[in-house]
Amino acid sequence: MHNLLVTGGAGFIGSNFVHYMLEKYSDYRIIVFDKLTYAGRLENLARAEAFGPRYAFVQGDICDMAAVRQVVQQYAIDTIINFAAETHVDRSIMTPDAVIATNVNGTWVLLEVAREQQLERFHQISTDEVYGAIPVPQRSKEGDPLEPRSPYSASKAGAEHLVYAYFVTYGLPVTTTRGSNNIGPFHYPEKAVPLFTTNALDNLPVPIYGDGLQVRDYQYVFDHCEGIDLVLHKGELGEFYNVGTEVETANIAMAHKILDLLGKPHSLITYVTDRAGHDRRYALDCSKLRALGWQSRHTFDQALELTVRWYVDNEAWWRPIKSGEYLEYYRKQYDERQG
Ligand code: NAD
Ligand code: DAU
Repeated sequence: MHNLLVTGGAGFIGSNFVHYMLEKYSDYRIIVFDKLTYAGRLENLARAEAFGPRYAFVQGDICDMAAVRQVVQQYAIDTIINFAAETHVDRSIMTPDAVIATNVNGTWVLLEVAREQQLERFHQISTDEVYGAIPVPQRSKEGDPLEPRSPYSASKAGAEHLVYAYFVTYGLPVTTTRGSNNIGPFHYPEKAVPLFTTNALDNLPVPIYGDGLQVRDYQYVFDHCEGIDLVLHKGELGEFYNVGTEVETANIAMAHKILDLLGKPHSLITYVTDRAGHDRRYALDCSKLRALGWQSRHTFDQALELTVRWYVDNEAWWRPIKSGEYLEYYRKQYDERQG
């Protein structure tokens, strides 16, 4: 494992992972392959430029088999780590087509090239959402049935099934991680934590879906990257690994903490119409990954504080995003919700 193709590496988790890997492994070369959708931003990778020939960026679509084959051959890729996806649940509800194309078909294209070029490893970045809504007090273990309930989570489950099918049918060396909600730098401000933070900074409403008592496991993106790294190096082929903190936080509690960190009033909170089919709770059991030697380094409070501080210090990154396509999306998404 030396020449890594990181698909979706210009997005939130992908770009953090690229920096993490370049800094940790001096003998790895990282090639980012990314379509640069609204969520993919070259500025997220600015620090990677300093690594000279150990890093390269190629713009391309994972649904384009010829382009994927070309980049794999040109850079003698031996490992693909697939972050590329349409990732926003609300957008997947409004317009499911791109979600199905990239998340399902795109993953299939990558698998097909990985098989043809006999790669050493294909690693799929998946999500805790594939398990569906989990009732209290259950926790999802890797062997549990998948019961996805949104177009996004169904597409991620479909992708996982293809990955596993390529392991069983063709013997492709694969691994999969299922991460909980990540927070940290370069998180596109359509997602709850960066949206609440940047809205609050501008004294705009902080929109809470439904009663705000939905539960998520928010982990610092750096901890997720460490989990992926561990599975790449110590994970068993054909296996799935949950990655999360096992700490449960209700959305309304998270919103209160953000407002408190920013010194903003709770009156900014606005309850809006709930997300269709909103999963009430996700809860992972991460003992399988811990058995490999992993542990989350940041508590929820530390992760949230680092994240909020990053947005305070990096207005130059998020301010330009919150215009144009973003505003159009925001109006479509929230005008109706707010009545
Ligand atoms: P993101 O939306 O920030 O970034 C996605 C990236 O994929 C962007 O750079 C985009 O340009 C690229 N992309 C989209 N379609 C593409 C295509 N057809 N070809 C090439 N590139 C394409 O996403 P993220 O939050 O960083 O999530 C990364 C991965 O992690 C996804 O697979 C997601 O399902 C998974 N995941 C995310 C979270 C989370 O909390 N954000 C948690 C668990 C798993
Ligand atoms: O659980 C992992 C998943 O986490 C990833 O697979 C997805 O790619 C990622 O987008 C994220 O999905 P969520 O739907 O959990 O994240 P989001 O930030 O959109 O929402 C978090 C919670 O906050 C969720 O319960 C919905 C709620 N929410 C969200 C928004 C955008 C609100 O209450 N108001 C909002 O405006």
